[in-house]
Amino acid sequence: MRLLLIGDIVGKPGRQIVVRALAGLRQEHDLDLVVANAENAAGGSGITPAIYRELRAAGIDVVTLGDHVYRRREIFTVMEGDEPILRPANYPDESPGRRFVVAPARSGVPVAVFGLLGRVFMPPVDCPFHAADRVLRELPGNVRVVLVDFHAEATSDKQIMGRHLDGRVSAVLGTHTHVATADEEILPGGTAFQCDVGMTGPHESIIGRRIDRVLETTLTGRPTHFEVAARDVRLHGTIVDVDPASGRATAVRRLRVDQTEADRLAVLTGRQKAVAVSDATE
Ligand SMILES: [Fe+2]
Ligand SMILES: [Fe+2]
Repeated sequence: MRLLLIGDIVGKPGRQIVVRALAGLRQEHDLDLVVANAENAAGGSGITPAIYRELRAAGIDVVTLGDHVYRRREIFTVMEGDEPILRPANYPDESPGRRFVVAPARSGVPVAVFGLLGRVFMPPVDCPFHAADRVLRELPGNVRVVLVDFHAEATSDKQIMGRHLDGRVSAVLGTHTHVATADEEILPGGTAFQCDVGMTGPHESIIGRRIDRVLETTLTGRPTHFEVAARDVRLHGTIVDVDPASGRATAVRRLRVDQTEADRLAVLTGRQKAVAVSDATE
């Protein structure tokens, strides 16, 4: 079976490329389950109920989040229900939202998904390594396939998580830095690993925000509005092939869809006119 994790969806440009390209990607790559980190989907920070529904309608089966999980309070009611949207599993127990989901893949195979937050340059949270152990102990006995989104800054932390969970989950894939790393591999125990799958949003930017604004603030100290950028929109993600009987990964590869490729996929599935219609403007 084949899983895709889409990296941090940033603002309207990021949502737009998902809405246009994902149906074609599902078809051409024969995807069984699609997970996306959408912590930056609403104007660059957080997610709203309308955006959540739009991403689900576009073909995303499970939504993970990160350090911007609670930026838009209106998502709390959705997160407190049974929807496949997750807070990082190492937030306090009292935090709104679910720590893991078990979602059926296209074939019916149950797939567990959870996210964890790193602790370098991040809000203080519980130990992600022990939190991962706790989630794994709680998973139903019939679950063999497990995808972990480790939302963290430091590549060393991500490698530690890969080794900590090697042989116990199908994939440990990173998000948060918005820059894809070229280190995808299958670890000795059969876990697919990559430090960061990259960003889904405007590449002509500083990790998704307008270059001029970020430069001005950095060089002068003057606060500016870090508006979401607009040009050279790309979708980044990583595809993992998994043996459903053992849960072990058999292949891992990076995915990059630029605007030309997104246009081709939109034509393929009749989505040329599809637009991101949800409420957040940027
Ligand atoms: Fe992000
Ligand atoms: Fe983040």
